[in-house]
Amino acid sequence: MTASKKEEPIIEVKHLSKQYNIGVDTTYKTLSESFTSAVKQPIKTLKDFRRQNETFWALKDVNFEVERGEVLGIIGRNGAGKSTLLKILSRITSPTQGEVRMRGRVGSLLEVGTGFHPELSGRENIYFNGSILGMKKKEIDEKFDEIVKFSGVEKFLDTPVKRYSSGMQVRLAFSVAANLDPEILVVDEVLAVGDAAFQEKCLGKMSEVVESGRTVLFVSHNMGAVQNLCQRCILLNEGHLITNGKTADVINYYLNTGLQVADKSIFKRDVSKKKLFFTDINLYNTKGEIRTKFTSDENILIAINYNLNVQLTGAQITFEIFDQNGICILSSTNFDSNIKMRTLSQKPGEYIATCPINVDFLRNGLYYITISSSVPNIEILDIVEFATRFEIESPLDITTLLGQSRKGVIFKNFVWQINQY
Ligand SMILES: Nc1ncnc2c1ncn2[C@@H]1O[C@H](COP(=O)(O)OP(=O)(O)OP(=O)(O)O)[C@@H](O)[C@H]1O
Ligand SMILES: [Mg+2]
Repeated sequence: MTASKKEEPIIEVKHLSKQYNIGVDTTYKTLSESFTSAVKQPIKTLKDFRRQNETFWALKDVNFEVERGEVLGIIGRNGAGKSTLLKILSRITSPTQGEVRMRGRVGSLLEVGTGFHPELSGRENIYFNGSILGMKKKEIDEKFDEIVKFSGVEKFLDTPVKRYSSGMQVRLAFSVAANLDPEILVVDEVLAVGDAAFQEKCLGKMSEVVESGRTVLFVSHNMGAVQNLCQRCILLNEGHLITNGKTADVINYYLNTGLQVADKSIFKRDVSKKKLFFTDINLYNTKGEIRTKFTSDENILIAINYNLNVQLTGAQITFEIFDQNGICILSSTNFDSNIKMRTLSQKPGEYIATCPINVDFLRNGLYYITISSSVPNIEILDIVEFATRFEIESPLDITTLLGQSRKGVIFKNFVWQINQY
């Protein structure tokens, strides 16, 4: 063996495929409940049974390698298969076909709740996770204070984790995953939950983990964070690996091929467990017509449809507008203009949130809208990334007047005066 021999990759993924059944209701039902619903809705139930036999590939023939110390970003629109891939790498679910070889201890932060035992307290879960990572009690003892301090859940250490809000669960889970010294850190969308200050803290901690030479796999819809943290990226679409390369190139490809915007099928998701979920978004011009092209002197009415499965108080609805480079140029929420919205209680049912915006500050080009909902600092309810897109195509006179080659993400026609003294 020569000294220059290349080290084996820390992760090897070969021909990885994962098949799911569609529409399987995993919630617990008693026999009599199933029977009653079959009698009440015979046709629907028959259809449901047929749906249960339908399968689809959430991942199909995915191949890639990760070198020790590399930080790999994984991007792709909702339902692309990112979380499925991370769950397989974290051994939470098994592949249908193909193989995965991991040459290191994996610490993972996946969706809220995974990796925690709900009946155990925060303290017990820290030890439970440490032992899964193969650590001795003494090693965990040494890290314990740091984990608790970072998570900020000191007061609730002896409370069962099932009583934690999703925000608290994520804080503790991130803290455990990042501080227990895994050789491979797998992080899925942590930045979607929690307040801005905690998000910053997480990104800072991840940079530290990266600097200490650990291998990190990072799934996010936040292109800025992916760009900052990852040298290399893979793009998944409908379960297929589409590109694998330098982060800037892959993000560019993702944003400029229109891949991130599905048709309305983006709203077809499993929503049975969601308290609130988005069902549609449309953009109207002032004549009440649905459009995807506007001029910058027009007003756009953003109309967001959502449903509630349960009664909810204080649900915030947010939209974010991104430009072609994935930069968020604007965000707005229903709390901004009306303080009463913070305490608004909504019954189960269908809702529509509308917001008229003027776009005289937008340059010509393509824009994307992400919609999300949360009860701030408590829980994330739903996110649909790049739910729709629109194009600003201004009449020639405005374009000529303001010029499209000048610098600046946005433009605005300010009034100047020149006076001679
Ligand atoms: N347990 C499951 N049973 C059936 N289908 C599933 C299951 N888990 C995921 N899916 C489906 O597999 C596909 C891929 O899901 P996955 O969660 O991996 O997507 P994702 O890229 O993480 O999306 P997001 O950006 O919304 O988090 C989706 O169509 C999803 O509805
Ligand atoms: Mg996911």
